[in-house]
Amino acid sequence: MTTTPAQNASDSSRDPKALYGGTSSRRITVRDIAAAKARGEKWPMLTAYDAMTASVFDEAGIPVLLVGDSMGNCHLGYESTVPVTMDEIAVLSAAVVRGTKRALIVADLPFGSYQEGPVQALRSATRLIKETGAQAVKLEGGERSAEAIKLLVDAGIPVMAHIGLTPQSVNAFGGYPVQGRGEEAAAQLLRDAKAVQDAGAFSVVLELVPAELAAEVTRTLHIPTVGIGAGSECDAQVLVWTDMAGMTPGRVPRFVKQYAQLREVLGGAARAFAEDVVDGAYPAPEHAFH
Ligand code: KIV
Repeated sequence: MTTTPAQNASDSSRDPKALYGGTSSRRITVRDIAAAKARGEKWPMLTAYDAMTASVFDEAGIPVLLVGDSMGNCHLGYESTVPVTMDEIAVLSAAVVRGTKRALIVADLPFGSYQEGPVQALRSATRLIKETGAQAVKLEGGERSAEAIKLLVDAGIPVMAHIGLTPQSVNAFGGYPVQGRGEEAAAQLLRDAKAVQDAGAFSVVLELVPAELAAEVTRTLHIPTVGIGAGSECDAQVLVWTDMAGMTPGRVPRFVKQYAQLREVLGGAARAFAEDVVDGAYPAPEHAFH
């Protein structure tokens, strides 16, 4: 009987090199990511914006953590990812690196840090890799970013590409619509995917893309696809951690599955603490020094 990659991943006798839940003595590298695709093994990726949360995900065995510019909405209180700066990405990426031992850390290049062209992209990426200890960078765009990706890869910087819905273009898109619908748009997405692969990207995020198209891209490419709102056929799946854990207030996108209700848990803890203080129940004798 043959086993599926998913069965292998949950089998205690699995290949010790398996990406998810495998090696714990060193950091995951882009070579591990390539090997996982060759084995047909799926893997999870989460965003992280601080050392403590990153350490939780690292201990849980999440092999790749993205210090995403989604920090704009989820951590810094902005309306979108557009205002996020290089300094903000640098400080939080360094924190995530310090909080982890095993995960491959990908630092996002924020809006304005690479749109001027390949040379600006190289300057920004070099700064993030040198200052933060992250092992890779991510940038948005397919064909339009291919030249920049090639320059970074030639300089020794692993690049995760990001196509489909690219949130830094929210003002051009006029919101967050599904991408790649219709023949021409689908053909463009395939061209974008091939362009970033040819430029040397080690993986590519497909955001808000019809599942059938994401499956076709995944079959076509030899680098792994990382889906978000792109169906189940991608090689990997990424979620913004605050969405995944129920920390984000209000509605979350339809593609999100919430695995906890952290907002409720944390709010409950804060209310219990407040009541104890008001009632004089905290601090109790065991919390005091004499
Ligand atoms: O910034 C981010 O969190 C991202 C993911 C949604 C892929 O780009």
